[in-house]
Amino acid sequence: MYKKNIFFFSIFIVISLLIGGCDKNMPRQIINPKIRTGEEITFFIAADPHHLSKSTYTEGKAFEWFLNSGDGKLLTYTDEIIDAFILDIKVKKPDVLIIPGDLTCNGERESHLEMVEKLKKIEGLGVPVYVIPGNHDIDNPWARHYTGDEMIRIDSISPDEFLELYSPFGYDEAIYRDKDSLSYLAAPSEDVWLLMVDTARYNRNKVRTAPEMGGEVKEGTLEWIRECCQLAKENEAEIIAVMHHSLMNHSEVVYENYTIDNSQEVVNLFLECGIQVTLSGHIHLQDIKSYGKGEDTVYDIATSCLVSYPNQYGILEFFPNNGYRYSTDRINMERYVKENNIRDENLVNFKDYTRDFFYRRSYDKYYDSLLEMSRFSDDEMKAISSTVASLNLKYFAGFRNENMEGAFNTEGFNILLNTAPFFVRSYVLSMFDDKYTDNNRIFVPLRWE
Ligand SMILES: [Fe+2]
Repeated sequence: MYKKNIFFFSIFIVISLLIGGCDKNMPRQIINPKIRTGEEITFFIAADPHHLSKSTYTEGKAFEWFLNSGDGKLLTYTDEIIDAFILDIKVKKPDVLIIPGDLTCNGERESHLEMVEKLKKIEGLGVPVYVIPGNHDIDNPWARHYTGDEMIRIDSISPDEFLELYSPFGYDEAIYRDKDSLSYLAAPSEDVWLLMVDTARYNRNKVRTAPEMGGEVKEGTLEWIRECCQLAKENEAEIIAVMHHSLMNHSEVVYENYTIDNSQEVVNLFLECGIQVTLSGHIHLQDIKSYGKGEDTVYDIATSCLVSYPNQYGILEFFPNNGYRYSTDRINMERYVKENNIRDENLVNFKDYTRDFFYRRSYDKYYDSLLEMSRFSDDEMKAISSTVASLNLKYFAGFRNENMEGAFNTEGFNILLNTAPFFVRSYVLSMFDDKYTDNNRIFVPLRWE
């Protein structure tokens, strides 16, 4: 199945163009995948790097408020975290890097410009990069400059500017582009193609006060995906789908604005196309879900946020005639600190710092939401918040079920068990009833045709 002739492959693309079956947006070039048939491939997946340029803030009340109202992202250290990741890439030499959106904190132009420089460095190491936008990247009304007590709105970037800035990172070498979105099809290898699906809804962001968080695959894009699948099939290539939003629910209680609106329709289309693996980000949770119909199953592997605890990235290895193996690894900050002679205590003790920061943000978030309910005493709120914050450390890192049983003996857990149902209780209980106990690894065998 994998014995293919690259000459035939290139000719097919050219013929397809000549007979006019393809859209005018399709680049008129002969595609010549660098990775030949039969080779093993290692893809790295860096989800939600949310880079924030240091030029967009000076320390003060405004920025402090912004930082403390976040979800545990280490926004003051995105520079160092991404650079440490680049060092990991240099050492480990993957074949391909995939970034499924939310490249920047809030779409600030400065953050995008710096991100592009970082991606150029990665390509300079011989690792091709493929990106799509997330819900934070385009026309974001939250792009701001923080100085002293003030927040001032600054420039974000338009969809056209996204395309221009990120043209070296997927768009320039696309085999086929969608005319209705920033989706594209790329062929880094003969055996495995990347269907990069833009699920973000930024069209009305300019007239909104907050960026649209939810996502979907547009009607026209569904049709384009069908054409992509046909093209891949004729070339005997497998397809990995990549999208920012979740293809399917990663939690029974937290899914609104995380999972694409037309989830079932897209799941059915992917099954029809024979797509087995989808890579997503957005929810910042390390989680694997699947949906099966008959003999076929499609997996949605969500990789957690690169700049939040536990600061890990996904590794997807493709073994020809065999399958896909997914695993994760944490950024090696120790090596980066050593090589660059860094003295910053937070970076020197990075593992403790990022864990404590994430714990504190979780704790404060749950304490504040319990306070609003006026249902528990202060001691009870503290006990529940510390239980949920401890559980979140494991939950976001991909662990579930018996891996969380340490919580059973805590006061907070017992208060939750003995109280009437409400969101926090359902959220905590959902962690003990999941399909996979460890969402950091899975093997997906290739289906038989
Ligand atoms: Fe997102």
